[in-house]
Amino acid sequence: MAASPEHVKRSRDGVRSRRVSDIPESSTVAIADLAARMRREGHKVIDFSAGRAAEHSPDLACEAAIEALRGGQTHQTEARGRPEYLQACSDKLQRCNGLAMDPESNIIATLGCKQGLVLSLLASIDVGDEVIIEDPCFVSYAPTIRLLGGVPVIAPLNPENGFRWKSDDLKHAITDKTRVILYCSPHNPAGVVHTRDDLDLIAKIAVNHDLTVIADEIYEAVTWGGRSHIPISGLPGMESRTIGLMGMTKSYSMGGWRIGYAYAAPHYIAAMTKLQQHLMTCAGSFAQLGAARALAEDVTKAMQPLWSDWEARCQYVTEVLNSHPLFSVAMPEGGFYAWVDIINSGLSSQDFSARLIKEKQVAVVPGGSFGPASDNYIRITCVRSWDEVREGVSRIAAFADAL
Ligand SMILES: Cc1ncc(COP(=O)(O)O)c(C=O)c1O
Repeated sequence: MAASPEHVKRSRDGVRSRRVSDIPESSTVAIADLAARMRREGHKVIDFSAGRAAEHSPDLACEAAIEALRGGQTHQTEARGRPEYLQACSDKLQRCNGLAMDPESNIIATLGCKQGLVLSLLASIDVGDEVIIEDPCFVSYAPTIRLLGGVPVIAPLNPENGFRWKSDDLKHAITDKTRVILYCSPHNPAGVVHTRDDLDLIAKIAVNHDLTVIADEIYEAVTWGGRSHIPISGLPGMESRTIGLMGMTKSYSMGGWRIGYAYAAPHYIAAMTKLQQHLMTCAGSFAQLGAARALAEDVTKAMQPLWSDWEARCQYVTEVLNSHPLFSVAMPEGGFYAWVDIINSGLSSQDFSARLIKEKQVAVVPGGSFGPASDNYIRITCVRSWDEVREGVSRIAAFADAL
């Protein structure tokens, strides 16, 4: 059948796809790109926008990937991933997360957590189905859900409740079209690490309403103050309905490798594998082999001193900024962002961020990008080098002094 004129009409920006025209660009990536461009032009920009640490990827992972390349591991792998990588993921899930996941049926290699999210949403929703998300939440959730024909439904996180859902918050968001609850812990941007009680609440509602839970656990390795990450998949009744998304992009500074993994019940993994066959073929072969090395116990142990130093950087940023009368910010429980309340500045998050980069060459992400209820916040990545952290925080304080 011929396409109707409606189908071929170009939208305002000249793109034919309304789905694409209707979503915003990723503000975190866009601001990081702007900071990189300004740096190339000679500005001394401090980039607190993108979620990436100052350090390089672990040497042992790099060596394993180089060895794989030199050894001819340059061909596509099985769609679900190389057996060595899937085994390394399974071993790590058992060792660090207490989860028994069969490498043959419970795990798939993904091209980072974002791609794991696309596969898991595609496997869980049809057009018009609703997905409950948080506000604030990762900037790509709502646009990705919309691109896939789903409907994001916001259940706001109340700062007065420590950015945690109460039962009624979720119940109000549920309709007969709800299929998925998508949450993140440790949380980007608010830094919350969900307790067993928080997870019990989500699990109970998911079981009662027969929902899939997509747990974005990309920051699971970096929790502070002696806290640890609890995977919701381990709670009663949850293994069969949870898709967990993990990876090394954040905690191992491997963002450019585009590698991660998802774990779930075999029916989800089979669906995601079918999708992977059509969409990407597989995750990169040598990236999988390098990442398998990163997941081994000795490398995880070798990361600990760096992760402790990241905790100290988060502590420094939040303490210094919190001592300024214009800001209110708590030490994150996990992850590496400072979620700074700027309401006393009298500026919207967009204006604050735009003026900060223009006047002080410091890039941060406006809170409004993380949800409509979050416009009086900015997000700062705390794990840049100590020099950048000290200089950047002092520029932000000087900017605030001059307001
Ligand atoms: C909560 C969250 N999920 C997913 C991602 C994307 O992760 P990846 O780089 O592994 O695709 C990010 C960061 O970019 C994030 O903060």
